[in-house]
Amino acid sequence: MTIIYSTNTGSTERYAKMLSEKLSCPMVSISKAGDTAKDEEVIFMSWVMSGTLQDYRKAKEMFGNIKAVCAVGMFSTEEKLSELREKNGISEELFFLQGAFDMKKLTGMYKMLMGMAMKMIKAKLKESADPKAKELSDRFEEGIDLVKEENLSKVIEYLS
Ligand SMILES: Cc1cc2nc3c(=O)[nH]c(=O)nc-3n(C[C@H](O)[C@H](O)[C@H](O)COP(=O)(O)O)c2cc1C
Repeated sequence: MTIIYSTNTGSTERYAKMLSEKLSCPMVSISKAGDTAKDEEVIFMSWVMSGTLQDYRKAKEMFGNIKAVCAVGMFSTEEKLSELREKNGISEELFFLQGAFDMKKLTGMYKMLMGMAMKMIKAKLKESADPKAKELSDRFEEGIDLVKEENLSKVIEYLS
């Protein structure tokens, strides 16, 4: 079994490392996974960007035996997993893990996209006193780290 992961700011990589230690199996970034056998049993871990699970399609093309998928993100919830599944066409067992967000770690297109999202959220906040919008805005502004080993318990339970 091998963990294949994709990360932008490192939180998915941290989960991959934790899981790799727990399961005593190797972890390989998808960008370096060319040498991993196509029929290897794989756990795919990646981060969510605007509802899209990054590199999931690439992983499907590279590997024929994906056992479980872990989506790392800030805003989705377990209840919203079916949306994520549908949008990305995920057929495997799917888990959502809360990640980390730090505007300072973002560069290029991602920074621009988040800058725009922040403006929209702030504008929305001005119009309504929606507590959810306020919570999101605070998360964006302050930066937040929700990566915890215990979040992996369901994944480990499923795999063992
Ligand atoms: C441009 C952008 C869009 C994002 N869109 C979503 C999203 O749609 N849903 C979500 O749950 N998290 C979203 N996030 C939050 C990331 O998934 C989260 O910060 C994740 O932990 C990043 O993983 P990484 O550190 O491995 O790159 C977004 C982050 C960025 C920068």
